[in-house]
Amino acid sequence: MATNVDIETLTAEVLQSFSKTTDQRLKQILESLVTHLHDFVQDIAPSIEEWEQAIDFLTRTGMACTDVRQEFILLSDVLGVSMFVETINGHDTPEATDSTVLGPFHMVESPVRALGDDVSPESEGPRCVVSGRIVSVDGTPIGNAVIDIWQANANGFYDVQQPGVQSVGNGRALLRPEPDGHFNFRTVIPTYYPIPTDGPVGELLHATHRHPYRPAHIHFLVTAPGYKELTTHIFVGGSEYLESDAVFAVKDSLIKDFADNSNLEDAVRFEVQSPFRHGRFDIVLHPES
Ligand code: BEZ
Ligand code: FE
Repeated sequence: MATNVDIETLTAEVLQSFSKTTDQRLKQILESLVTHLHDFVQDIAPSIEEWEQAIDFLTRTGMACTDVRQEFILLSDVLGVSMFVETINGHDTPEATDSTVLGPFHMVESPVRALGDDVSPESEGPRCVVSGRIVSVDGTPIGNAVIDIWQANANGFYDVQQPGVQSVGNGRALLRPEPDGHFNFRTVIPTYYPIPTDGPVGELLHATHRHPYRPAHIHFLVTAPGYKELTTHIFVGGSEYLESDAVFAVKDSLIKDFADNSNLEDAVRFEVQSPFRHGRFDIVLHPES
């Protein structure tokens, strides 16, 4: 190793330090990381104080993480990295339902609920029914899927953000569809809400004059043996912030009308009064290759 650091050869020297790495994927990732990081530093030429500020920001981002808060996921989200990773991983499954970000609030186990249940029993506010069908890309129903859903209450808070106000599990459910793939549940109509702004990520949004809002949505994580896992949302058509989601996660295919349904048979089937707000979401999974 050189004793006098030469900026011209430093990058090559660091890359060389990974030459004995036997895990080729790890080697590739570290080489790319160092190359891009060195380019980045050369590009912005930070002062010592600025670099210390950056280290402090990342340190505080880590320290803000708890069992029920994930500030690093939030940082990845607001920088568009989460959406980038989701999107490149969805490119090999274009026939399947589009994926979108997981977000930082999938952090407790959802309670098992029955089809048709209200998944937000402690949330006040106007209700809706969400229904759909889980199928494979060739239309085969997937009756053995597990549908994990989570959403905020009508004030825009997840259960884990309001200990003592909401029980853990409010706004969440693990559902199994019918053998023909159909599922349905009742819930409070979601609203747009701000992502947490009381940590380092909030400082970043504030410093860059960005708003923190996400359009109204319900999260879905759908798994089934033999199929690729799907992480996605259903967005409520007409919601504010569909055009400027703070985490860049809206895809047009995931925006659904929650229109009034006045079909009496549907009201009987879903055990609700007619008319009712109805979001329909058919989910297509891609077989594992
Ligand atoms: C969410 O939808 O739960 C979420 C996603 C990204 C950042 C913050 C919240
Ligand atoms: Fe959310």
